[in-house]
Amino acid sequence: MAKKKRILVLHGPNLNLLGRRQPEIYGRLTLEQINRKIRALARELGVEVEIRQSNNEGELVGWIQESSGRFGAIVINAAAYTHSSVALRDALVAVGLPAVEVHISNIYKREDFRKRSLIAEAVVGQIAGFGVHSYLLGLRAAVEYL
Ligand code: DQA
Repeated sequence: MAKKKRILVLHGPNLNLLGRRQPEIYGRLTLEQINRKIRALARELGVEVEIRQSNNEGELVGWIQESSGRFGAIVINAAAYTHSSVALRDALVAVGLPAVEVHISNIYKREDFRKRSLIAEAVVGQIAGFGVHSYLLGLRAAVEYL
């Protein structure tokens, strides 16, 4: 499939613990169950997704760098790095691919430190607060930018 029809989905730190991590905030679905829903929607929309998770900032930066020329768009839940990582923001700006920022929880309804996203200015837009649907809405949004 041509690179234009490919979307890179990135999950940041601690999202590997979904299902048992603060289920009252993040829900009961595991990362694998969320990924299955993302893959099912991708099939429906006729796009290819590559899904990766890392607890390591540098690894995420590397994947964003390598996405140039291989993918048409990025969907990213940078998790805690959202609020701290200039490196992720710079990587997104550097590759210049359309990116959609997603969050399972509504980061504006939580602690003050979560209300600031360092990557927000490097993405097309943000979807937060819809649980697993944030990813699915994010995928639909990203497809519009392919
Ligand atoms: C999160 C929100 C972040 O503040 C938090 O650090 C996460 C998950 C979300 O999906 O709601 O790990 O990105």
